[in-house]
Amino acid sequence: MQRKLNLPNDKPYSEACEQNREPILNVIKPLLAHCTTVFEIGSGTGQHAVYFTEQMPHLVWQTSDCPANHAGIRQWLTEAGRDNLLLPLSLCLPDNAPPDATYDAVFSANALHIMGDAAAAQLFPVAAKVLKKGGVLVVYGPFNYQGHYTSDSNALFDAYLKNRDPHSGIKNFETLNGWAEGVGLALVDDVEMPVNNRILVWRRD
Ligand SMILES: C[S@@+](CC[C@H](N)C(=O)[O-])C[C@H]1O[C@@H](n2cnc3c(N)ncnc32)[C@H](O)[C@@H]1O
Repeated sequence: MQRKLNLPNDKPYSEACEQNREPILNVIKPLLAHCTTVFEIGSGTGQHAVYFTEQMPHLVWQTSDCPANHAGIRQWLTEAGRDNLLLPLSLCLPDNAPPDATYDAVFSANALHIMGDAAAAQLFPVAAKVLKKGGVLVVYGPFNYQGHYTSDSNALFDAYLKNRDPHSGIKNFETLNGWAEGVGLALVDDVEMPVNNRILVWRRD
């Protein structure tokens, strides 16, 4: 389960972020070694942005999320006080136009299963629009394959999500890949991650 708590100084805090940041870093570090700019969709608390730019200081990381999360992201980024961390843009899919800028990579963790289908589908044209030619879309989270859960715990998690919001839920890999291919993104990797998560990587033609 994803839990967002508040630290004593009222900064939002995600324990999941602390637990998954190292395994994610191990996968994305080589992928982003030759990148300069990253656009993140659904930055949440901003903890990933802070940690990944600390570990990969060559990156300039543009955060984004729905406006409700901006205050918390600003707290994390301001406290980090680094100029390779950019304050959040408003991107609440399927609304809001993506930024005019282009990026070497788009990153999104644990966001697709929070979204309904319309929002999740829109993530792919947004990524294709902002990615430079040869840029990568990197997505982390739980996914189903051919309509099947990869674990009992993912099935329970999906039931919890749908009980909270019937439009949300774990997405099928095949559906996501169809949306990606439809906008010129080709799957280049599908990496097994701890606790039944995956990292999916698509490259823009
Ligand atoms: C479970 S949190 C994950 C946050 C962060 N990426 C992480 O891994 O800790 C899901 C994030 O997706 C964002 N999100 C949900 N629906 C969204 C939408 N329609 N458009 C953009 N972001 C959305 C939420 O605001 C939240 O920040």
